Amino acid sequence: MIKQWFAKTVSIALGVVLLAGCEPPTAESTQNGFRGTGMLQLEQPKVREAKVAANQVPAASPALPATPPYAKDVYQNVQVLGDLGVGQFTRLMAAMTQWVAPEEGCNYCHVTGNLASDDIYTKVVSRRMLQMTQHINANWNDHVGETGVTCYTCHRGNNVPAEIWFEDPGPRSAAKAGWRDNQNTPAPVAAMASLPYDSLSRYLLGDEEIRVIGNTALPSTNTSPIKATEGTYSLMMHMSDALGVNCTFCHNTRAMADWTQSTPQRVTAWYGIEMARDLNVDYLDPLQPVYPEHRLGDLGDAPKANCATCHQGVNKPLYGAAMVKDFPSLTVEASTSAMGQVSSEAASAVATSEAVDRQEAEGI
Ligand code: HEC
Ligand code: HEC
Ligand code: HEC
Ligand code: HEC
Repeated sequence: MIKQWFAKTVSIALGVVLLAGCEPPTAESTQNGFRGTGMLQLEQPKVREAKVAANQVPAASPALPATPPYAKDVYQNVQVLGDLGVGQFTRLMAAMTQWVAPEEGCNYCHVTGNLASDDIYTKVVSRRMLQMTQHINANWNDHVGETGVTCYTCHRGNNVPAEIWFEDPGPRSAAKAGWRDNQNTPAPVAAMASLPYDSLSRYLLGDEEIRVIGNTALPSTNTSPIKATEGTYSLMMHMSDALGVNCTFCHNTRAMADWTQSTPQRVTAWYGIEMARDLNVDYLDPLQPVYPEHRLGDLGDAPKANCATCHQGVNKPLYGAAMVKDFPSLTVEASTSAMGQVSSEAASAVATSEAVDRQEAEGI
């Protein structure tokens, strides 16, 4: 009798202790569709707190007027920021240092004692980054709105942004026969779902159609095969993961394809896809010859941007903090006479000086 009572008490006490270790169901839900559609976003307050803490922006130093002398009249090799007053120019250099190379300082991009030199590849890359940032803010308002982007949106104090991607050959497999598209392995790009590995090359570099449902009933004219379906779902998993949202942030899941039942965010996302492709095709991929080998991917391609490069788990990067309003020179595309592209001369100059460095290091 006493034994039984003891066993009962112990098991109840144990149960209480075990349950106390469980996370209470505290997820908060926000409704973002019409009532009854079940279009909810769920978020744990603790997760949100951590994200808010990780998305604080550094304060900008006070703005300066565009008074002469101008950078183009004072410096030797200024191709993008020439119209800035010297004070403004220096303020932007200081901000870029804080955003991209806070530990290394000016010398991450500059040769000591010769600021005009283009011998370090990071400077050549940065010049193109300046043009890319201006291009985003000037021409992609349909996506970035008035919020805009600065170097910090992607870099966050890191030389290399935390989220970049390369063309991905997927894990090696003995099974050469048949088309598997690296299925049945968790794909990092698709939030570890068993979906195609390399969907970003198809949609954010290439422009394959993001389509599941054909426009006609006849299979002979349905141009959306299963391959396109799997790729589409892989991309959608990336997008949800990158923004920290679920599918109902953009879709009414009973009719994924129907725009009239989708949220306004789906339209913004559509522009986001077009923009990411534009950045990869026109700016990031062509930088390939400028980078040292260790920055390139397994297939020798340049590092590229996806939704996560800017968003980093939040529906609006940095929770919508509008940093660029403090740096108006990043919102207009500079008239870039001969400098529309990274000149192949600059690329080969960097390549040569790197080769020399390597030879020196190897004692050749
Ligand atoms: C992340 C890379 C980067 C960092 C860090 C950086 N710069 Fe620059 N700097 C550039 C680029 C790119 C240019 C060329 C801009 C152009 O072509 O319009 C430049 C040009 C200059 C020039 C003009 C030199 C000339 O005669 O042509 C000066 C001066 C300068 N930077 C000063 C600084 C100082 C001072 C710091 C540190 C507070 C600094 N920079 C940090 C990328 C950087
Ligand atoms: C849309 C996102 C994005 C923005 C905005 C952006 N960058 Fe980058 N940046 C990248 C990506 C992606 C890379 C490639 C990463 C790598 O080098 O492996 C990169 C690389 C670089 C590198 C080379 C780093 C290295 O060590 O190889 C420098 C320097 C740089 N960016 C400077 C800048 C500056 C300065 C700005 C603002 C004027 C800027 N970036 C804005 C995405 C961005
Ligand atoms: C941030 C917004 C966003 C999120 C989140 C999102 N989608 Fe999409 N989805 C889009 C956009 C935009 C398109 C259309 C792309 C186009 O037409 O080029 C699309 C297209 C699709 C299509 C193709 C429809 C057709 O026309 O055949 C399917 C299926 C789909 N999404 C499923 C999903 C699933 C499943 C999820 C969650 C894992 C998801 N989406 C998350 C924005 C989103
Ligand atoms: C160059 C940086 C950058 C990239 C890359 C980027 N975005 Fe954005 N995105 C932004 C900014 C900035 C905003 C905030 C715009 C605003 O405040 O109006 C935003 C807003 C959004 C919104 C609206 C969110 C809301 O709450 O209304 C969606 C949806 C979105 N992005 C989806 C995407 C998708 C999907 C991709 C990849 C295909 C992508 N973005 C790539 C910078 C970026």
